Amino acid sequence: MEKIPNTVPKNSWTFSPEINSEIRRAAATGIYDIRGGGAKRRVPHFDDLLFLGASISRYPLEGYREKCETSVTLGTRFAKKPIELKIPVTIAGMSFGALSGPAKEALGRGATLVNTSTTTGDGGMTNEERGHSQTLVYQYLPSRYGMNPDDLRRADAIEIVVGQGAKPGGGGMLLGQKITQRVANMRNLPVGIDQRSACRHPDWTGPDDLEIKILELREITGWEKPIYVKIGGARPYYDTALAVKAGADVVVLDGMQGGTAATQDVFIEHVGQPTLACIRPAVKALQDLGMHRKVQLIVSGGIRTGADVAKALALGADAVAIGTAALVAIGENDPKWGDEYAALGTTADAYDDWHEGRDPAGITTQDAELMKRLDPVEAGRRLRNYLAVLTLECQTIARACGKSHVHNLEPEDLCALTIEAAAMAGVPLAGTSWIPGQGGF
Ligand SMILES: Cc1cc2nc3c(=O)[nH]c(=O)nc-3n(C[C@H](O)[C@H](O)[C@H](O)COP(=O)(O)O)c2cc1C
Repeated sequence: MEKIPNTVPKNSWTFSPEINSEIRRAAATGIYDIRGGGAKRRVPHFDDLLFLGASISRYPLEGYREKCETSVTLGTRFAKKPIELKIPVTIAGMSFGALSGPAKEALGRGATLVNTSTTTGDGGMTNEERGHSQTLVYQYLPSRYGMNPDDLRRADAIEIVVGQGAKPGGGGMLLGQKITQRVANMRNLPVGIDQRSACRHPDWTGPDDLEIKILELREITGWEKPIYVKIGGARPYYDTALAVKAGADVVVLDGMQGGTAATQDVFIEHVGQPTLACIRPAVKALQDLGMHRKVQLIVSGGIRTGADVAKALALGADAVAIGTAALVAIGENDPKWGDEYAALGTTADAYDDWHEGRDPAGITTQDAELMKRLDPVEAGRRLRNYLAVLTLECQTIARACGKSHVHNLEPEDLCALTIEAAAMAGVPLAGTSWIPGQGGF
């Protein structure tokens, strides 16, 4: 019989062009791939959920006449001075060193214009950031880079970082290209030498010691500042319960889609649970302890739109934090630098070599010339606009569900498009009343 040739070349799913390319890269270099950003592969996500909206049994609110509140108070459990934010979207911790000074300033300016908070990172507190942030959360990390008690007191809240969603169980990386004299001074490191942050806190090993550490931080700051505990999406039920037991005012939960400045690709793609899968177990832990809404929950990892924000809140979060989206809003990965991304062997949207310090947008770099490209005032305005849109979108959905505060969104407002998302979010599969996987985590 005549053989009919196959006209469409058939790529293997197992050995796809991307996988083959990575095998060749590994074979050529002998080192693993390091990159910035979050998980690139598709895992169950907020996109797999839909809101139901109002109907005969649910009464919507009029968009132009009826209020839908968005304020959030964080740290109501023990702190004398809780944080009051106008919107439920905060800026996640991103280190000075990973980010340029102008980028930190832009984040502070943008967040302040809409009355929300920004967060320091693995690299200490800069004057740019403190000076332009109305509300600044100070990270207390295993590395202790730049840590000093004066900065703890200059902050409005303290965030003890146990882990990050992009790399639960791993520490940060800052490659030599980004360790300038200023970064080196702040971190007590030699200039130009690759650095790997610790992944474990040096002075506590478990929840009992964490409790002592939290008390120590409260004493240093006169019991004024809320103490957050940030966990990566590894074991959200137990980690949330243990953070509460140790005395946290706020739990920050970062799922596997969470961005990072630099980590091994294998870590980003293969460790941790999707953000969507982490929220319900964390909320359940708070509910089991009678602490839901008393200890606030901030969720992060892959949040991009007002719909994502609304879905996280409906699943029980009090607020969300954004990292990557905030960077894109201020100009990261902008196609206007297309030729320069091409010269780096990539495209605007795919660019993830944030660790290399050659970012054409002047954001994930310490290069004095590249940094000048970012105007922090204009970038701050862009962030303000973006945060305003996230909030308006979230309000629009909340009103359509009949809610006078975005915190009144609830799982009953949602359905899921896939069985996986239904099981993870604990909401019915669309068109059914079936919630798969109920009865345990
Ligand atoms: C450039 C960059 C630097 C970061 N630096 C830190 C850090 O120093 N400390 C930390 O806890 N998390 C750090 N993160 C993680 C963020 O705090 C946050 O958990 C994550 O970005 C949330 O996911 P998203 O980027 O999808 O919004 C960093 C993230 C990025 C993108």
